Formats: sequence, C-alpha cells, structure tokens
Amino acid sequence: MGDMILRLTGLEKRYPNGVFAVRGLDYSLEEGGIYAFLGPNGAGKSTTIGMICGLCIPTAGKMEFRGEDISKCPSFYRSSIGVVSQHGNMELDLSVFQNLKIHAMLYNLPKQYYLKKIDELLQVSGLEDKRDEKIRALSGGMRRKVQIIRALLHDPYLLILDEPTVGLDPASRQAIWDILIALRRTGKTILFSTHYMEEAHIYADSISIIHQGRIIKKGTSETLIKDLGIWCRIEFIGEEKRIDFFSSHEEALSANDTSVDELIIRKTTLEDVFIDLTGKELLT
Ligand SMILES: Nc1ncnc2c1ncn2[C@@H]1O[C@H](COP(=O)(O)OP(=O)(O)OP(=O)(O)O)[C@@H](O)[C@H]1O
Ligand SMILES: [Mg+2]
Repeated sequence: MGDMILRLTGLEKRYPNGVFAVRGLDYSLEEGGIYAFLGPNGAGKSTTIGMICGLCIPTAGKMEFRGEDISKCPSFYRSSIGVVSQHGNMELDLSVFQNLKIHAMLYNLPKQYYLKKIDELLQVSGLEDKRDEKIRALSGGMRRKVQIIRALLHDPYLLILDEPTVGLDPASRQAIWDILIALRRTGKTILFSTHYMEEAHIYADSISIIHQGRIIKKGTSETLIKDLGIWCRIEFIGEEKRIDFFSSHEEALSANDTSVDELIIRKTTLEDVFIDLTGKELLT
C-alpha cells in the first residue's frame, strides 16, 4: 500500500427525516489494496459509500482526495473513482454494450478508446457472448459483472462497491472476486462493503467495522482477532451460555474449574469479533 488517497474527517449524514445515519466518521485509505466496511443492516455503510461517491451530500465533515478537498476538484475526483452501487442502476431494456457505451459517453471517453476497452473488459469478465444481450435477460451475477466493468471503463484509481456479491451464489461470488483480485494486482484500490464475514476475512487488507454510523474498529482480520484473543471458550451451564477469549489454547482450557454441561474450545473468528464489538449478530 502506498500514498494516502482518501481521507474522511468527522463525516456526518443526517437525513431530512432526522435519521442520523453517519455520526462523525473518520477514515483514511491508502493507494493499492482492498478495504472492507463490515457492519449490520442500517449501520451506515451505504450512506458512507454514497457520500464518498458523491451520490449523497454530507451534513458535516470533510472529504479529501489526494490531499484536496473533494468539493474543490469534483471532475478530477469523479474521473478517479468507479462506483458499483448496492442497487444496480442500469437500463434494463438496453443491451450490455449500450449500457457501457452510455457510461463511456457520460465520461467523454474517445470512441476509439472505449470500443477497445469494452471488448477488453467483456473478455476479462467472461461476458463476450452477452455483449448484445439486454440487461433484463442476464442473471444477477452477470448484471453485477456488467456494473463492475462499467465502473472500470474510465480506468479509475479507486473502485468503490456497495455489497458487490449480495444475493449471488457461491460460484458467482467467486467470479466477482476473481475480477477484483486481478484488479488489485494491477495496483487499483478497492473499497467494498459487505455482510459476508468470510469475504472480509479472506480478501480485505484492512477491515473497518461500522456500527451506528461510526467506525468502531479497524485492522486486518488477523489483528482484530488477535486483539480479542485467538482462542474462544464457550461454556453452557443450564440455560446460560458464556463466551470468553484467550491468547492461548492452554489458557482457554484451564480457564474455569467449575463443572459445565458442555464446553467448546475453538479458534476465534471475525464474526466473534463483530459480535463482541457490536453486541449484535449479523443479519445476512
Ligand atoms: N434516504 C434515506 N432517508 C432516510 N433515512 C435513510 C435513508 N437511507 C438510509 N437511511 C437510514 O440511515 C441508516 C443507515 O442506512 P444505510 O443504508 O447507510 O445502512 P447500511 O449499513 O448500508 O445497511 P444495509 O446493510 O441494510 O445495506 C438506516 O437507519 C436507514 O434507515
Ligand atoms: Mg447498504
């Protein structure tokens, strides 16, 4: 990872109906690598991503891109990011190619460039034979791929995806991740939100846990787990369930000498970290 490209300071969003979706969020992102926002429904992930993408106006706070206030360089910023929103916003009755072409024209891309780039991206994503198919006729996984390649047409530095794999089957999720990992290798920076613990655990270089409009913890999956204790001891005594965390298996094993009905000792997971921090199981 390299230079700082995005910095959010005291970011806030209060919707007109009074809902305080984001409450003073501080965040920074370095060039290169994959970053995750992990949080339950209503945590403020989409609102934060919406503000980063310029789709939703903050009610307070500051957003900087490469050290410049974003509001002072809107066109440079817009051409530097690619956006894949949670609810796909494509023209369903137009073809894949037509949707991509509209995007290219909105970004004033030269025809020679975009025709070549569209072919290249369709090939990379395995969608060559869907070029002239209407979006309506595509599966959810294919639509998501089209959204991703559309966001890449103008060759942005930073790709921002809100729940890129939600509702997709495991093979489609894997296909999306194959594309994103290949992009990381080319030096792109990727920010995504998810409910899926395993995606954050496997793919993210840094995970930010968002809860009630704030980032309550940030780190790699390993450091988040290590901070809690890499061993988890679960005791069942009658109706009661007790969970404790330890840094070694021995400690977890010898933690208690009172008799329990059932005892489970296992490795701590990212989900344990999440529940410990938010007191809430993920609703997926
Ligand atoms: N346009 C809106 N007007 C009013 N309130 C909104 C609006 N959009 C979101 N909210 C509220 O803001 C809060 C945060 O919502 P947001 O969509 O950012 O959460 P999220 O973390 O993306 O959730 P999910 O995992 O369900 O996508 C919620 O309480 C939601 O009801
Ligand atoms: Mg959301």
